[in-house]
Amino acid sequence: MRLQRTYWCGNISGKNIGEKVVLAGWVQGRRDHGGLLFVDLRDRSGLVQLVFDQERHGSLFAAAEKLRSEYVLAVSGVVIGRSPETLNPKLATGEVEISVEDMDLLNTAKVPPFYIEDNIDTDENLRLRYRYLDLRRPEMQEMLKLRHRLLMATRKCLDERGFLEIDTPMLTRSTPEGARDYLVPSRVSPGFFYALPQSPQLFKQLLMVGGVERYFQITRCFRDEDLRADRQPEFTQIDMELSFCTRTEIIAEVEALMADLFQAILGQKLDTPLPALSHSEAMERYGSDKPDTRFGMELQDISEIAGECSFKVFSQAISGGGAVKGINVRGQGTFSRKELDDLTALVQSWGTGGLAWMIVTEDGFKTPIAKFFTAEQLDRLGKHMHAENGDLLLFVADKKENTQKILGQLRVHLARQLDLVPEGKHHLLWVLDFPLFVYDHEEKRYTSNHHPFTAPREEDIPMLQTEPLEVRSLAYDLIYNGVEIAGGSIRIHGGEMQETVFRLLGLTQEELDEKFGFLLEAFEYGAPPHGGIAFGLDRLLMLMSERKSIRDVIAFPKTAAGTCLLTGAPATVSPGQLKDLHIYTVNRKRS
Ligand code: AMO
Ligand code: AMP
Repeated sequence: MRLQRTYWCGNISGKNIGEKVVLAGWVQGRRDHGGLLFVDLRDRSGLVQLVFDQERHGSLFAAAEKLRSEYVLAVSGVVIGRSPETLNPKLATGEVEISVEDMDLLNTAKVPPFYIEDNIDTDENLRLRYRYLDLRRPEMQEMLKLRHRLLMATRKCLDERGFLEIDTPMLTRSTPEGARDYLVPSRVSPGFFYALPQSPQLFKQLLMVGGVERYFQITRCFRDEDLRADRQPEFTQIDMELSFCTRTEIIAEVEALMADLFQAILGQKLDTPLPALSHSEAMERYGSDKPDTRFGMELQDISEIAGECSFKVFSQAISGGGAVKGINVRGQGTFSRKELDDLTALVQSWGTGGLAWMIVTEDGFKTPIAKFFTAEQLDRLGKHMHAENGDLLLFVADKKENTQKILGQLRVHLARQLDLVPEGKHHLLWVLDFPLFVYDHEEKRYTSNHHPFTAPREEDIPMLQTEPLEVRSLAYDLIYNGVEIAGGSIRIHGGEMQETVFRLLGLTQEELDEKFGFLLEAFEYGAPPHGGIAFGLDRLLMLMSERKSIRDVIAFPKTAAGTCLLTGAPATVSPGQLKDLHIYTVNRKRS
């Protein structure tokens, strides 16, 4: 380059007036005003206006007339103050412009497929196909800077707190996080496969056996699962593990990290300790293990009254061992019959019998089921639901777990529909004491709620043999605005307990030796008590920056179908490559 850049476009201000500067960047746009030509020049830092004056620099002006959007330039010129009527308060550099004296056209550009500016209404697939152009937009640049700041702040905080950053293998064997693995065939061992890690879980535990004491890693994890707005096939974790720590201490470490990140990214002080709920309380009150606590509408249990009334749907649910729960949708007594029918159909599609409703009016409850209740029962029910004039009460009768699940979903659905979720709020909350196991009715066996290395609560250990589903674990999830952003647990560190849990999960001795023999063996050499946690970094950034999808905070994300529209991955490979890998494919259709 002939002209050597001396400033970034966005950093020029009134302070530079009179100074000669060299800038470089892309043409954002060009406006022709007779003998004056204005060009907005953009680099990573922002925009500044260039002025080409035909009278003073005729040949330069002629060259500038040929400039098109996204051409690449270096210019030198003098910073001049704008006249009062041409000030642009919307632009950080709006007080000044550059009177151009020299220009290097460094490259031309094809017409881009969409405008390089914020708030464009462009199909996301087109943005992903031309991600390098999408990344030039200011909001994407801002995202990349935020992501960088988040990474840097994490490293700084954890370094200061005595954590060592250690990287672990990507070519490894299957890890039990519960999703499908991405497999990598081995060329030198025909028919054998590596698995890309779903998380560094086993390695970080081995690092604890290896005497590391405090480990962290910002690492990529790979999970072949159905994708959603907050799931990607490869995503980034802030992964941590500590030895000789109680759950309380680990939670305090994580809160210290969160406080630093809130300061660094949002400039906000985070109040710690953060609130915590047990898993069972979260389910009782919010019908979810990741409750969004930015709004109320908590679930109420009216089983007692339901058991006494003569409405069969309610009384039979109770006599059958179920429950009746409800939510109070404040001030929404104006729902029409049609809207209530639609809500009923919605909850039915989620898997329950129906939805009972009551509208609270000055003259009592308006509801088709009034006749099944005595006045005293309705009075009690109203008090229980904290009912006031104009409220809409919705009830589900079912097995207790199902009343929670359905009303939990309905609560979130209605809050979104009625715009009850306050914007700009950042609510963090711990959920503790998850059940150690869940029962998989399809496969007719227990599976781990978190993963098989999670320790049971000490006082629940005797129930492992008698009532495994009642055993609570030392697992914890961190919930941010209703999204699980981190999960972890105190681990089992004794071979015997680990074997008991593996057995309950239905692993045979053979499977056990084959899959986890190395871990059980390591535990025989003095494993310290340990525990840890992993953050979904993409989710954390999505929430902090109030974006809708984790795709918006990843430089090169994949589509919901797991494809990369930019590179075309996954792609076919040559027959020679397949032969080397001892692989024979029978179907090459893209799903
Ligand atoms: P877990 O499986 O709960 O725990 O994962 C930790 C966090 O990672 C994020 N996450 C994802 N983010 C984007 N796309 C995905 N597909 C995806 N899957 C998970 C979530 C989640 O909270 N090894 C354990 C941690 C431990 O026990 O220390 C683990 O990986 O935010
Ligand atoms: P039915 O007896 O099926 O005609 O239902 C009478 C009313 O009870 C309707 O408004 C249904 O939507 C409602 N209902 C049915 N099943 C349930 C249920 N499991 N929980 C709550 N309400 C229900």
